Amino acid sequence: MDRIRIRGGKSLKGEIRISGAKNAALPLMATSLLTDGEVRLDSVPDLADITTMTNLLAQHGVEVTTKLAGKERSVTLSGANITDTTAPYDLVRKMRASVLVLGPLVARHGQAKVSLPGGCAIGTRPVDLHIKGLQQLGAEIDLREGYMYARAPQGGLIGAEVNFPKVSVGATENLLMAATLAKGETQLINAAREPEITDLAKCLIGMGAEIEGLGTDHLRIRGVERLHGTTHKVVADRIEAGTYAMAAAITNGEVELIGVHHELIAAVCATLQQAGVQFTETPRGLKVSRANGDLLGVDVMTEPFPGFPTDLQAQMMALMTTAQGASMITETIFENRFMHVPELLRMGASINVHGASAMVRGVKRLTGAPVMATDLRASVSLVMAGLVAEGDTILNRVYHLDRGYERLVQKLAACGAEIERLADGAAE
Ligand code: EPZ
Repeated sequence: MDRIRIRGGKSLKGEIRISGAKNAALPLMATSLLTDGEVRLDSVPDLADITTMTNLLAQHGVEVTTKLAGKERSVTLSGANITDTTAPYDLVRKMRASVLVLGPLVARHGQAKVSLPGGCAIGTRPVDLHIKGLQQLGAEIDLREGYMYARAPQGGLIGAEVNFPKVSVGATENLLMAATLAKGETQLINAAREPEITDLAKCLIGMGAEIEGLGTDHLRIRGVERLHGTTHKVVADRIEAGTYAMAAAITNGEVELIGVHHELIAAVCATLQQAGVQFTETPRGLKVSRANGDLLGVDVMTEPFPGFPTDLQAQMMALMTTAQGASMITETIFENRFMHVPELLRMGASINVHGASAMVRGVKRLTGAPVMATDLRASVSLVMAGLVAEGDTILNRVYHLDRGYERLVQKLAACGAEIERLADGAAE
C-alpha cells in the first residue's frame, strides 16, 4: 500500500484550487436514475468514491462517460436503460453513500434491492431514517439477508409529510430525490440544509422538479410525472477548503483558496478567526493567513449546517495541538470520531478525551512519526500535523485520502510543502 512522507517545517505559500465537492457529486450522480435524459455534471472531482459510485451506477445500467478539459472533469450519465435495481453488498460496504440509489430507484423503477451498509469506523450510522421516510411515501420495505427490499405501491410513491426526528444529510437527499417523482406534495421537515443538499435541489430543479425552501430545514416538493436531463456544476468542496485553510494556519503560511466563497464556510471562518486566523475575500476566492503571531485555543462543537462541520473536527483538533492555551472539541454527530487522537498523541500532542469531548492543550512542537488512520478526515488531520512536526511523518493507509482529497500531495507540494507519495514497497 502507498504511503505519504511529509517533512515538517515549511510554511504553505501560494494558491490552491478547490475541487468540486465529493459529498455533492455523489448524490448528484444518483439523480441519473430519476430520468431517461442525460445528466451532465461539471467539476466532478477525481476520487475513489466517485469511481465507486460510477461502478454502482454502471451496474444498474447507467452509461457513464467522463471527459477531461484541463483539470476539470465532466461526467455525463444516461439512465435511459436501467437493467438492474440491485446495489450489492460489495459496493455498499465500500461506500455508504451507495444507499443514495435507494430513493431514486424506488421512485422511478418501482423497486430496489440495496444492501444495508453495516458498521463504520466513525460510528454505527444506521439508515432507519431513510427507510421510515420512504415508507411514509408509500414504499414497502422488507429487511432480509442483509438487504433492503423496497417496492413502490402500484401507481408509484405518494407525497407525504416527513418530519425527521434527527437531522440527516443522506436521508434528506434520498427523500428529496424520491419525492420529485411522487404523486402530490411532500414536505421534508427538520431537513438537513448542508450546501450539498441545496446543490442537489438546484440540479433537480434543472431537471424539471418543483422544489421550494432551498437552504432551509423545510423543503416542499411537488411531484412531477417525469424529469429530464440537465447540465449542472458541482458546488465547491467546503470541507476541502476548510482543510487547506487550517493547513495554511498551522504552518503559519498564506494561501489563496480559489473558487470558494466565505458564505460556504462561514461558521468555520468565524471559529478560525477567534483562533487568530484571518480571511480576506479576493476576486477569485479567499486568502487565509494568521492575523498576527500565535494561534489561540478555542472551543468547538460540531453541529449540522450552518454549524461547525463534523468533517472538519479532526483537522481542527490538529490545528489546536500547537495553539496557545486549551481547546475543548466536542463531537455531537458521530459517536466514534476521535480515532485521530491516539495518532496525534504519538506525534507529541496533549489531548484528553472525556466522552464526546476532547481537551487539547497546546504544545510547543510536534514530532514526526509513522502514523495511520481509519477514516478520511482523520488521515488528513495527520497530514496537517506532519506539516508542522519536526522531522518525518509517514502516513500509512493513504487510500482513505484517495477517497476524498483530489491531488492532495500535488496541491500541498505546489505551496512549498515537503511531501511525497511513496509507492508500495518503496524505501522511506
Ligand atoms: C454525510 O453522511 C456525509 N457523507 C458525511 O461525510 C458527513 O460526515 C455527514 O453527512 C454529516 O455531515 C456524504 O455526504 C456522502 P447523516 P451521512 O445521515 O448522510 C445518524 C466524509 O468524511 N443517522 O447526516 O451518512 C447518523 O448515525 C463523510 O466526507 C441515523 O441515526 O450522515 C449520524 O449520527 C463522513 N439514522 C447522524 O444521523 C439514519 O437513518 C448524521 O448522519 C441516518 C443517519
